[in-house]
Amino acid sequence: MASRPSHPRDEPSLDGVDWGVASDEHGHGREATIGELEAANRELERSNASLAQANIELADLKYAIDEASIVAITDVKGVIAYVNDRFCKISKYERDELLGADHRILNSGYHPKEFMRNLWRTIGRGSVWRGEIRNRAKDGTFYWVDTTIVPLMDRTGKPRQYLAIRTDITERKRVESLLVQKETMAQLGTMAAVIAHEVKNPLAGISGAIQVISKRLPADSSEVRILGDIRERVLALNQSLTALLSFARPRVAQLRPVSTKEVVAHPMMVVTNDPRYEHVEVQLRGKDFTIVADPELLGQALLNLLINAVQANEERGTVVVEVGQRERHVTLSVSDQGPGLPEGVDVFQPFFTTKIAGTGLGLAVVRQTAEAHGGSVEIERLEGGGTRFSLVLPRPVGADEIAPAKAARKR
Ligand SMILES: Nc1ncnc2c1ncn2[C@@H]1O[C@H](COP(=O)(O)OP(=O)(O)O)[C@@H](O)[C@H]1O
Ligand SMILES: [Mg+2]
Repeated sequence: MASRPSHPRDEPSLDGVDWGVASDEHGHGREATIGELEAANRELERSNASLAQANIELADLKYAIDEASIVAITDVKGVIAYVNDRFCKISKYERDELLGADHRILNSGYHPKEFMRNLWRTIGRGSVWRGEIRNRAKDGTFYWVDTTIVPLMDRTGKPRQYLAIRTDITERKRVESLLVQKETMAQLGTMAAVIAHEVKNPLAGISGAIQVISKRLPADSSEVRILGDIRERVLALNQSLTALLSFARPRVAQLRPVSTKEVVAHPMMVVTNDPRYEHVEVQLRGKDFTIVADPELLGQALLNLLINAVQANEERGTVVVEVGQRERHVTLSVSDQGPGLPEGVDVFQPFFTTKIAGTGLGLAVVRQTAEAHGGSVEIERLEGGGTRFSLVLPRPVGADEIAPAKAARKR
């Protein structure tokens, strides 16, 4: 006679299911009847069905989470064990590159050490961590994610894995920083007004006084030379202040239809006539278009781009100014053969400069001007080195004006 197979108490058992053997209430083994087997079989089928149902529900849940969120699972050391498609897409890595890699490859270096330490401490003791993190994608760009990290525990109550669910908040962060920038600009405007009054006017006075004194001295005296130096420095200081003022309190753009040829002519002439840049060749390419613009403001922005390009070229080689079109936009771009932009910084940030005598305001003004024209600025890294900055400007609506301007059509 077969005896009933026994299983340890804590192992999952399907109640009422016995494998060809049943026992009566006194525990005496006996052969199972056909009826009992059929009943057991039905019970098994019901269990299977509810298991399948649970599986479907789990798959649905996973599908929903994958649709809504960026999901990753790491081990306790931060080694990635699972990523969903959204994770790959936002980080710009292939799945193969991520699995087995340390999650720290996404670190952007933005958050202080204490921030990260606190995160690891929190999940290490089994608590959920929530916060906003800036990560670096494979191509070096940054993205922000609202992050919830849930520790998954083992039987002893220690974290076994970490499940991270994130949502992309890059756009919100961008708008927030724009608001902060606006606020800063407003304050800068107030400060600029004070500077204009308290500093610029006295500077003009000093410069005038130096001239008067110089005239009273013999022309060949060494004092005249020294006074000349002082005056030059005062004028340079005045120029920096003018740059700051025009950035902090830009004049309202006075828009009118104008040909791109007219816009690029002045800044190109300024650079080609500057003896410091005599070894640089400035080329003009592309067609001519009519745009609606403030030629002076736009010309100043182009001049800033040209000077940056010439400086990136170390005052040699070729700089190309190109007028192009793109659907409903005209592009004015300046390309150099320089070393490319410094990594991981916002070059448009006011006062950011890597130059000894730089103001860091050139690109801030460029962006400001592009936006005042309803346009934007694009940056491309060129193959074989060099950078292209493009002003992307809207073209006027109306068939006539969209056509290339007359000068270009003659050709
Ligand atoms: N064409 C370029 N190639 C490489 N780096 C550039 C270029 N244009 C700008 N940059 C970088 O951006 C910084 C900010 O430029 P900008 O706002 O014009 O200020 P500044 O020219 O006074 O430094 C520069 O100091 C330089 O590091
Ligand atoms: Mg500059």
